Amino acid sequence: MTKDTIKIFDTTLRDGEQSPGASMNTEEKIQIAIQLEKLGVDIIEAGFAAASPGDFDAISKIAERVENSTVCSLARAIDNDIKSAGLAIAKAKRKRIHTFIATSPIHIEYKLKMIPDEVIKRAVNSVLYAREFVDDVEFSCEDAGRSDIEFLKEISDAVIEAGATTINLPDTVGFRMPSEIGEMIKIMSEYTKDRAIISVHNHNDLGLGVANSLEAIVNGARQVECTINGLGERAGNAALEEIVMILKTRGDIFSNFKTNINTKEIYPTSRLIANITGIEPQPNKAIVGKNAFAHESGIHQDGMLKNRETYEIITPADIGLDIDDTLVLGKHSGRAAFKDKLAKLGFNLEDSALNSSFERFKILADKKKDIYDDDLRAIVTNEMTKATQVYELVSLQIMNCSEGVASSTITIKKDGKIKIDASIGEGSVDAIFKTIDRISGYEGRLMDYKVTSVSKGKDALANVTVKVEFNDNEPAIIGHGLNIDTMLASARAYISALNSYLSMEGMLKVRKTNSTQTV
Ligand code: KIV
Ligand code: ZN
Repeated sequence: MTKDTIKIFDTTLRDGEQSPGASMNTEEKIQIAIQLEKLGVDIIEAGFAAASPGDFDAISKIAERVENSTVCSLARAIDNDIKSAGLAIAKAKRKRIHTFIATSPIHIEYKLKMIPDEVIKRAVNSVLYAREFVDDVEFSCEDAGRSDIEFLKEISDAVIEAGATTINLPDTVGFRMPSEIGEMIKIMSEYTKDRAIISVHNHNDLGLGVANSLEAIVNGARQVECTINGLGERAGNAALEEIVMILKTRGDIFSNFKTNINTKEIYPTSRLIANITGIEPQPNKAIVGKNAFAHESGIHQDGMLKNRETYEIITPADIGLDIDDTLVLGKHSGRAAFKDKLAKLGFNLEDSALNSSFERFKILADKKKDIYDDDLRAIVTNEMTKATQVYELVSLQIMNCSEGVASSTITIKKDGKIKIDASIGEGSVDAIFKTIDRISGYEGRLMDYKVTSVSKGKDALANVTVKVEFNDNEPAIIGHGLNIDTMLASARAYISALNSYLSMEGMLKVRKTNSTQTV
């Protein structure tokens, strides 16, 4: 029996990046795109090219690096957006423009302030213009879930005629039930037949993103838009790993369908995204949560020892997770053994990244008894994605007094020169950040501060994520710092945000103004 392939359209770098606190720098986005390709996603939505010069730059670089997956940029149904998208993806081997306009009465009347005929005209013109850049054009009816089905048919006819090859029907506000999505997709796929691929894009506001996507597949959708770890606007998008593992695990029900995903890359991809964004999946999250394969109760453990299938429907190995993952290397291990271990984890590093990762591993091995795969993933990701090191932390001293006032003295290297300064603050973290501000001359405003532990044990690595605004007119920048000592990790995170800011300075301004505009 031939199975229908469900195309997996990953939008972690676009809708996922719209998760509060998930913005990424260019290098981070490139590493994610490379990993998504390894995972086997059919289409990578690399961003929204017109949002800012930084987004444009990241998409262009991804377009140059990715070999097999289609690289896509989002564009509002506006000529300027479409041109930016077309130019950004120009060098991709396989490329797609994804343009959209809202189709629901509430969006048309209040947001667009248009009449339905104008919406159709704008959609058609956009698709025609997009076809001047690429053959593969996706058109999305934003808020399709609350749109009139007859209007969806009318606009789909018009954009298909203009050259759209995929029609995406998003449940933009995550309002619909599976039966309702199923009905919409059935009507629309029977209506469009083989004139276009029908796609779905479900948000998770009522926790139904994955269920709605599955119902859409059963009713004719052949492309599913989703994100790693379910990241995305508000409550997020349907989680890629859940959709794929449901199709696989319940092959008895979904026997007609297959995907091109290599499920063994699911866990490494999930960790990469969590390390880069600092957003950990909830511990009990299906498939990739820390507890997804932990059996706590005695009865369960007993059952597992007798036969794993008593309590396990997916094996950790299915998603590329090695439960027994303590590194056999120690502080005396050599570079070759280290490189070999990284290759097993899927990292093939260039010499400079390998050397700096190895140095960090040695320092860590000196302090930490057990080193886990997740520790290595975190170190290597941090090394591979760091922006140019304009400022480098040399040393940090902190003093606390009982009243909560703390002081810090910091030594930083810039252009080979050493700078030292000190400051007091409301607690250690505040004192550290104020000292870095004094040294750099930039005054950062801390918008968010998060600490997660990378692996287990009291000597676990702390992964500190900060979100800092360096300029009122520009979006906040994310920085990450890793260390066994949380204060050192905090200083590193703040300096990494500053370095990212400096590497993107001048590319940021447009985004803040543009992101509030709608079509
Ligand atoms: O949720 C949505 O409607 C979107 C579209 C731009 C596809 O993200
Ligand atoms: Zn969306």
